[in-house]
Amino acid sequence: MNTRVVENMGKYTGQVLEEIFSREVIEKRVDELAKQISTEYAGKVPILIGVLNGSVFFLADLAKRLDIDCEIDFIKVSSYHSGTQSSGTVRLLKDISCIITDRDVIIVEDIIDSGLTARFLKHRILENQPASVAFASLLFKPECLKLEFEAEYVGFEVADRFLVGYGLDLDQKFRNLPSIWAFPVNMNL
Ligand code: IMP
Ligand code: MG
Repeated sequence: MNTRVVENMGKYTGQVLEEIFSREVIEKRVDELAKQISTEYAGKVPILIGVLNGSVFFLADLAKRLDIDCEIDFIKVSSYHSGTQSSGTVRLLKDISCIITDRDVIIVEDIIDSGLTARFLKHRILENQPASVAFASLLFKPECLKLEFEAEYVGFEVADRFLVGYGLDLDQKFRNLPSIWAFPVNMNL
């Protein structure tokens, strides 16, 4: 098991992170999802809408592996103020800039935790009457879900631990780690 110690991060300093998904494992799973999407959207040109900032690595890798044409746009919302606690409310910070009416939309997210962000995004996209909307999330924490939500494409189901890397951050740090790391299970944040 690969580990790394958190440095220069106030109360998090000294915490030991464990690598839970290596680059190779992520790459293989993203490839599988891309194959599935390519098959299911054959003959269509979906618009991938990445949820900033966390989804950028996943979206880029997924899009590069698709065998079909696609378009790319972004939306930005905020649900986490800081640290690892959700504020419970979702705010739109940047809207999409493309027209999605009658288009096939795939919302691309890094992780579904409570599901509040996912539900907000799906409603927001549906207001513009797309031909279809699906949700692709690299990670999903089933134990944390506070409402009914089903994503069409999920990379990995994970336990209730705070994760960083491959786009996921803690207070804007660790996004650029190429693999996914978990904070300790019983960490009292
Ligand atoms: P939800 O609205 O509670 O489902 O939270 C979704 C958002 O919270 C994600 O898009 C992430 O930005 C953030 N988030 C949730 N869990 C984690 C985590 O374990 N690590 C980093 N960010 C997380
Ligand atoms: Mg996010």
